[in-house]
Amino acid sequence: MLNPEQIAQDAAAAFAATDDPDALEQVKARFLGKSGQITELLKGMAALSPEEKKSTGAAINRAKTAIEEALNSRREAIRQVALEARLAGESLDVTLPGRGEIRGGLHPVTRTLERIETLFRSIGFEVADGPEIEADFQNFTALNTPEDHPARSMHDTFYLLDEHGKLAEDILLRTHTSPIQVRYMQAHVARYAHLETMPEIRIIAPGRVYRVDSDATHSPMFHQVEGLWIGKDVSFADLKGVIADFLRRFFESDDLEVRFRPSFFPFTEPSAEIDVAFMSGALKGRWLEIAGCGMVHPNVLRHAGIDPEKYIGFAFGMGPDRLTMLRYGVNDLRLFFDGDLRFLRQFV
Ligand code: FA5
Ligand code: MG
Repeated sequence: MLNPEQIAQDAAAAFAATDDPDALEQVKARFLGKSGQITELLKGMAALSPEEKKSTGAAINRAKTAIEEALNSRREAIRQVALEARLAGESLDVTLPGRGEIRGGLHPVTRTLERIETLFRSIGFEVADGPEIEADFQNFTALNTPEDHPARSMHDTFYLLDEHGKLAEDILLRTHTSPIQVRYMQAHVARYAHLETMPEIRIIAPGRVYRVDSDATHSPMFHQVEGLWIGKDVSFADLKGVIADFLRRFFESDDLEVRFRPSFFPFTEPSAEIDVAFMSGALKGRWLEIAGCGMVHPNVLRHAGIDPEKYIGFAFGMGPDRLTMLRYGVNDLRLFFDGDLRFLRQFV
């Protein structure tokens, strides 16, 4: 029978003579593998007497432990050598110039929204907010939009499914920011219920809105900025003044024509659409509708708990995506939402 100690010495020598990790595992198999020398010794123990088994078994185990230790330390040594070789091979030139920061930039529509907020804040408007998943009541009913109004049709509006895949009743993706008017007025009335006369409401409300629309000037997801000014004595002339002043400051140009075109909204009376055209530049002479507006309908005030005999005011809903097209001379609104960096980088 082979001597366990001798085997352990042989193994240590064989490991030491190997400097490749794969070869090392092969060498290991010769000693500890299925038909390795140690394994053979263990098999041979069956023939021994109990006395012999005890002492021989202990000797074999000592040898096995010694071999495993030798193997592990050789593995570690080989790994160290490989690591040192790699570090020596890789040189780092700390004098090379850096790769530079990758600078992000704001989306052109975000720039427009920030600009609108700044300009309206400067004339005393607060910025309000509301949910994108809206109640049917706030989106339509409270805005004096009757049950059979075409805007409620499945063709125009994104409805939502409930957890059973059924059409969820009474909720939808808001089709405009006008429901924020209703929410804000309701909260305002509640907040100042203890006062004889409530303070004026003067807000804008920017946000994303959704419609089944898609062409060069319509996107299924787009932005609106709602405006609302309610007080004791707010007129259509104030509306025209606020809009004209805003547009002049927004575009920083007098090369611009604005027209108020008579229109209809269930929630304003009278109502108008606001169109803008540049007299020069890339979009010269092209009229683009940038907002709807009007005097808030008495029924809308009533729905919000405001007495239309005591308070009056105007509202508007602008399309900041269209304002962005005009400002930068972009002829297809969908470019803003395609996520093409070649397009978006131009605005950084
Ligand atoms: C409205 O949504 C009304 N809520 C506006 C309003 C508010 C009127 C308050 C009176 C009082 P309209 O559907 O016209 O109106 O949309 C308003 C503006 O949003 C449009 O003038 C246009 O600039 C923009 N817009 C409408 N649909 C799209 C679209 N699919 N993609 C991009 N912009 C759009
Ligand atoms: Mg319109």
